[in-house]
Amino acid sequence: MQIIRDIGQLGSALIALRAGGHRLALVPTMGALHAGHMALVEEARRQADRAVATIFVNPLQFAAGEDLDRYPRPEEEDVRALEEAGCDLLWMPTPEQMYPPGFATSVSVSALSTRWEGEARPGHFEGVATAVAKLLSVIRPEVAMFGDKDFQQLAVIRRLVLDLGLGASVVGVPIVRDDDGLALSSRNAYLTAGERRRAVTLPQALQRAVLAIESGIAVREALDQAEQALSAAGFSKVDYIALVDALTLEPLDAPAGRMRLVAAATIGSTRLIDNYPVGMPQRQ
Ligand code: PAF
Repeated sequence: MQIIRDIGQLGSALIALRAGGHRLALVPTMGALHAGHMALVEEARRQADRAVATIFVNPLQFAAGEDLDRYPRPEEEDVRALEEAGCDLLWMPTPEQMYPPGFATSVSVSALSTRWEGEARPGHFEGVATAVAKLLSVIRPEVAMFGDKDFQQLAVIRRLVLDLGLGASVVGVPIVRDDDGLALSSRNAYLTAGERRRAVTLPQALQRAVLAIESGIAVREALDQAEQALSAAGFSKVDYIALVDALTLEPLDAPAGRMRLVAAATIGSTRLIDNYPVGMPQRQ
């Protein structure tokens, strides 16, 4: 795997990778890689001839007071994991290369960014969209891989790519979970052992709510029960638990069309997000 830090060397490395008509798949990450990221690399290799990863802890997508400074940066382990997964090229830009002095551009995907994560983390999606627009413009991959875990991010990026004609086909890759069901996340590293044990209540409560909604129980009742389960397990704050339209992310108070159950809640000092698909309720 070729490792590039300097954007000046990236162009010729990409030309070499494309030689012979090879198609590129991009796996953009913020590092602290886990099996969820490796699933992105595997899918990248299935969908294209060459896999390109980026590691960049994007300051623009962290609000003041969030975890930018303590975000894990285990560079050696990350490089080894990408190498083992068969990644062909890794670009690790510096903040100055991503955002040169005087950088004055911000990309805002308005409609999809306002609710849920957008409300809880003002400016977050502008930061994500600006970084992803830059990565896609510089690398110009045929395919770009993103995890379903950041479900709203995926919707924002699909819109961004369509609106700006960035040319990549955006692929969402299913969530990878620990054996007990907790979705893998770089932020799980913040959990104490006790919090980790209780964190499993998040996927459990969501799965129960999915089953309840699919069996015809009122959406509000199913969501309230999930919220109560999180409080009982010691989650200090539930930012949202909502049934949403899977395409528009607008809230639904009754089942309709393609749906997703989305949630964000804090345990200790760690904010976790998760989501599950929801099918139509069974007809009696
Ligand atoms: O999902 C992430 O890791 C980040 O939000 C991304 C897409 C790499 C943009 O910084």
